[in-house]
Amino acid sequence: MFGVDELGMDLGTSTLHMVVRGKGIVLSEPAYVAYDRQTRDVVAVGEQARRMYGRTPAGLVVERPLRDGRIRSFDLLSKMLRYFMRKVVGKRAAFRPRILLALPGGMAPSERQTLVDVMVDAGVRSVVPVDESVASAIGAGMRIDQPYGRMNIDVGGGRTNVSVFSFGHQIVWDILDVGGDKFDDAIIDYLRKKHNLLIGSRTAEELKINIGAARMRGTKLTMDACGRSLVSGLPRAVTVSSEEMIEALDEALRDMLIALHRIIERTPPELASDIFDEGITLSGGGAQLYGLDEVLSDQLKIRTTLADEPALCVAHGLSALIDDPDRYENIDLVSGSRSDRNVRD
Ligand SMILES: Nc1ncnc2c1ncn2[C@@H]1O[C@H](COP(=O)(O)OP(=O)(O)OP(=O)(O)O)[C@@H](O)[C@H]1O
Ligand SMILES: [Mg+2]
Repeated sequence: MFGVDELGMDLGTSTLHMVVRGKGIVLSEPAYVAYDRQTRDVVAVGEQARRMYGRTPAGLVVERPLRDGRIRSFDLLSKMLRYFMRKVVGKRAAFRPRILLALPGGMAPSERQTLVDVMVDAGVRSVVPVDESVASAIGAGMRIDQPYGRMNIDVGGGRTNVSVFSFGHQIVWDILDVGGDKFDDAIIDYLRKKHNLLIGSRTAEELKINIGAARMRGTKLTMDACGRSLVSGLPRAVTVSSEEMIEALDEALRDMLIALHRIIERTPPELASDIFDEGITLSGGGAQLYGLDEVLSDQLKIRTTLADEPALCVAHGLSALIDDPDRYENIDLVSGSRSDRNVRD
């Protein structure tokens, strides 16, 4: 199906990964763009733009063109994609690759089409869309083409994709409005309320990664969080503990569990029984929150295992699909129109 000029792209809302046939992952960069507010000229993309986040000079803005599973700016998205394409493909105008594109879950068909147009504009010959959840499950090493029920939960930055597969089809799926960003927001909220401290989202993310926890850690960890005191208006540092993180994340995790319960309830009994036997596979960068796998195992009463390199599962899945298409020919890359979800819900 694919020739040498074939690429894969995991267009995540936090991180973008690109893969090349036979070469695996060749690029992983934050999906950030820095631009001049007046001229809208792009001044930095990817890692460089992310480093500027929250500390830009006046007149410059750093944004994520995709957030909460939505395209926030087509113009910026298009500029970002052009930049990354050029980085991987080079400037050769004649070289127009075909691309296997993992689309953020929950995207409306019209938005998907626009995204395809943006990609073609950025220099690709044609676009083969694949659901992020399908690529993620393949990259997590799940055999989703077998006659058994298999469940994958991909906790991304913006959203959590939940899918039950059997015979290569997605039988039950949903997209939850919770992910790494929501965890960061919950930490910001918590520090504001509990310590009268306003922190930025990068600090919140650092807290989450370094001392964040869904359940008690073996040893209590602490970290200093710097921000602005809401009382004095001056910079201040507060020592925060991992136990406080559990409190901060409690509500977001509870919402996630309620939604997961509902999806399992909607799963046909035979498939639910397979999932019970086989367990749930957890992928996505956000799934690395300390103790999340154990909390899900406990609360859902189904053994839940974190995949290897969770943040790279979608990219590895795309790589596998490009390198060995015959092996996956029985898998539906895109499930029925996702717009039916809006009707049902
Ligand atoms: N060790 C860690 N502990 C907790 N969260 C983490 C860790 N490492 C990364 N994350 C979080 O993972 C999230 C990014 O995950 P991922 O790269 O899968 O998202 P994405 O694919 O870009 O987003 P989406 O799939 O929603 O479009 C971020 O919120 C990041 O803070
Ligand atoms: Mg993702």
